[in-house]
Amino acid sequence: MSNFPETPQLVDRFGRTVDYLRISITDRCDFRCMYCMSEEMTFLPRAQILTLEEIEFIAQAFAELGVIKIRITGGEPLVRRGVLGLLERLGQIESLNELVLSTNASKLEDMAEPIKQAGVKRINISLDTLDADKFKQITRTGDLSQVLKGIKAATKAGFEKIKINAVILKNRNHLETIDLVQFAVDQGIDISFIEEMPLGVVSSHDRAEVYYSSDLIKADLEEKFELHAVADNTGGPSVYFKVAESNTRVGFISPHSANFCSTCNRVRLTVEGRLLLCLGNEHSVDLKKVIRANPGDMEKLKLTIIEAMKIKPEKHEFDLTEQPIILRHMSATGG
Ligand code: GTP
Ligand code: 5AD
Ligand code: SF4
Repeated sequence: MSNFPETPQLVDRFGRTVDYLRISITDRCDFRCMYCMSEEMTFLPRAQILTLEEIEFIAQAFAELGVIKIRITGGEPLVRRGVLGLLERLGQIESLNELVLSTNASKLEDMAEPIKQAGVKRINISLDTLDADKFKQITRTGDLSQVLKGIKAATKAGFEKIKINAVILKNRNHLETIDLVQFAVDQGIDISFIEEMPLGVVSSHDRAEVYYSSDLIKADLEEKFELHAVADNTGGPSVYFKVAESNTRVGFISPHSANFCSTCNRVRLTVEGRLLLCLGNEHSVDLKKVIRANPGDMEKLKLTIIEAMKIKPEKHEFDLTEQPIILRHMSATGG
């Protein structure tokens, strides 16, 4: 008998089927992006984080429960030792349609090729500006030239799709969007613009003050580009437009101005082994506790995951004018 279900097993109270798992494999990162982290961060001690074997075991359970897409995130996933081996082993789970990765590209110059060989089909790369000084301001520790080399290596490695993710903040980088789209067009890759979400306290800016909506970005872009609505859906929250006479799609991820929760198909595994049922809520189940108390017990783990679907919240409740109610930073959940 096959281990894999014919009918979906992960369905929540609102009838949404979960077939997409995002796994954060480290909370560490070599950058300190101002919207993601505070300047001084304390990272988790090793004993508190899942081992690579535990991550694999949990991924296998989700695959057996009908998950067909896994995205590896961080922090910055490529700073975790052993990541290539993990990707290779996850790439061998037969029932997965897609193994994908989100990265800041700082390590891609050397790693793009082996990542592709491991079976990763698409990668998303964070890039908020093409201006080296602004890049330094936003990432605090990042080096734009290294990231551009990483993007070049990724294009050469021949992934099915590469997408840039840019978080846009008013008066920080909102004038960069046209250059970023032109860059994407020149490279033949996609790009999504993201409205900042209030996850964790950040000291560098007032989140309400820097809010710049997807509609404003789109209007700015239309001064230079012709954008055609397309119905493409990658299983993510981006709403896509095609840039006329190019291979590039521009996506908008608009948690504030266009809530997409009704079609949510995903859950997240934090590096501490918490199954997080919504990015914008704290509802979670401690899977690390379950697997450490019942080593090797796949059935127990699967039942726990099925049960967890009952507490998946209907939607996020982000409010930019209040102090964030979600205290974890994005680096703990990988977006
Ligand atoms: P693909 O569609 O597979 O390309 O991926 P995606 O756009 O879902 O994933 P990506 O890693 O590029 O996510 C981009 C950003 O969208 C994340 O970093 C988050 O900021 C945001 N995002 C993704 N999923 C959710 C979600 O479920 N809720 C909210 N509020 N934001 C999300
Ligand atoms: N709001 C929106 N997006 C964020 N990211 C990190 N922090 C935030 C935030 N507070 C994005 C990064 C990257 C992805 C992993 O998450 O830009 O593209
Ligand atoms: Fe690192 Fe990504 Fe967070 Fe920037 S957004 S600090 S690159 S995890």
